[in-house]
Amino acid sequence: MPKAWQTYLQEHKGEALADLLDFLRIPSISALPDYAADVQRAAEWVAQRLQKAGLEKAQVMPTQGHPVVYAEWLHAPGKPTVMIYGHFDTQPVDPLDLWEHPPFEPTLEGDRIYARGATDDKGNMLAPILALEALLKTEGRLPVNVKCFFEGQEEIGSPHLSDFIAAHQDLLACDLVLSADGGQFSETQPSLTISLRGICSLQIDVTGPAYDLHSGTYGGTVQNPIHALVRLLDSMRSPDGRIAVKGFYDEVVELTPEERAQLAAIPFDEEAYKKELGVEALFGEPGYTPLERTTVRPTLEVNGIWGGFQGEGTKTVLPSQAHAKISCRLVPRQTPSRVLECIRQHIAQNTPPGVRVEVRTSEHGTPAYLIPADHPGLQAAREVLKALYGVEPFYTRMGGSVPVCSMFLEHLGVYTVTFAFGLHDERTHSPNEFFRLSSFKRAQEAYGRLLERLGQGEGL
Ligand code: BES
Ligand code: MN
Ligand code: MN
Repeated sequence: MPKAWQTYLQEHKGEALADLLDFLRIPSISALPDYAADVQRAAEWVAQRLQKAGLEKAQVMPTQGHPVVYAEWLHAPGKPTVMIYGHFDTQPVDPLDLWEHPPFEPTLEGDRIYARGATDDKGNMLAPILALEALLKTEGRLPVNVKCFFEGQEEIGSPHLSDFIAAHQDLLACDLVLSADGGQFSETQPSLTISLRGICSLQIDVTGPAYDLHSGTYGGTVQNPIHALVRLLDSMRSPDGRIAVKGFYDEVVELTPEERAQLAAIPFDEEAYKKELGVEALFGEPGYTPLERTTVRPTLEVNGIWGGFQGEGTKTVLPSQAHAKISCRLVPRQTPSRVLECIRQHIAQNTPPGVRVEVRTSEHGTPAYLIPADHPGLQAAREVLKALYGVEPFYTRMGGSVPVCSMFLEHLGVYTVTFAFGLHDERTHSPNEFFRLSSFKRAQEAYGRLLERLGQGEGL
């Protein structure tokens, strides 16, 4: 016999889908200043939806940047307080011409709903709201105390959230955070995320001559800033994939043999992986498996490079400037500021003669995040996933970053359990991003069950 809240979800699934489509129509791109009003609009949409669901004090709260949304239901004395997290901002959409449907005109095709932000993170974050609504409308109460905290700046590194959380420690105090941002191993195999990598980034601006030069008149006597930049970038990584920046690996802790065995037990089909990504061969740091290299090893990647003539045909110019953007994924114990300092020193020592180099670093690096594998919140999630999928979840580590997890730990002293239902093929950050309706439904069911389970628990 389904419970009343489960029947409620089933009976309201048409409205839930209509809500998701509405939400996806808001182009809440946090990186682009032109879309700031849309990020605000998405925040207002979320606050209204929380209020309609029956949560109290639902409100948009300003930060130094994009807003956050807060709501609560705190009428379960003696029960734990669980905070649900997600983000309503999205990545930019470029390159636009590779989209088969306009990114903010959500399109249904079979089980898939295509739109920017569908899996990351609007579909995922709406699911727990719907589960809360179903519980409140049918039982008039929740099994635990609940706070909701949704943000609009995750995709730019949550630059103003640390200050916000530090300034609202009482409001946000809780026993556990559940993050609706992340995914599962597959449709039939659940997984628990036990770590996320950190990140730090920088831009390199190389200046040669004071202005662009005729490459015939001056070529051969003046250093070309693009050549200098390419040489500098190349010096940061050895040909086999090891990062060659002195001190880069100093703080990295190696996994124990048991931890490596746990990762090795996760199936990995290298042929299928290469085929899906369209590459002939994999590449990376020797001595580590592909899964290790994408989750527990740090990286340094050039994200973009520009300068000089880009148009059709030729232009005989020796450019004045060249630029590159770099980001590093960090693993436990690495500190963003130390890694950036190592890179600065490397640049200072490896800049070819004849150019000036300026380095701009983002002040908002984020360290890696790790939750103890025996954390009671993780155990509760494990039981729910096992019951839902019929198999034990894998313990996985994720290569991506969710900066707020370490902020919650630092300022509130609580761990975040990732409880989300994206799948790896859903084109996150890429054209034709989509979310599965089946995952949307499963996520609602899973959240209902997890809240019930946390209400019965022996404490967190
Ligand atoms: N949801 C992702 C992070 C993620 C990806 C978690 C895959 C688990 C599995 C998040 O929205 C994201 O993209 N974060 C950015 C953060 C950055 C902008 C500071 C990232 O990882 O690039
Ligand atoms: Mn996300
Ligand atoms: Mn993202």
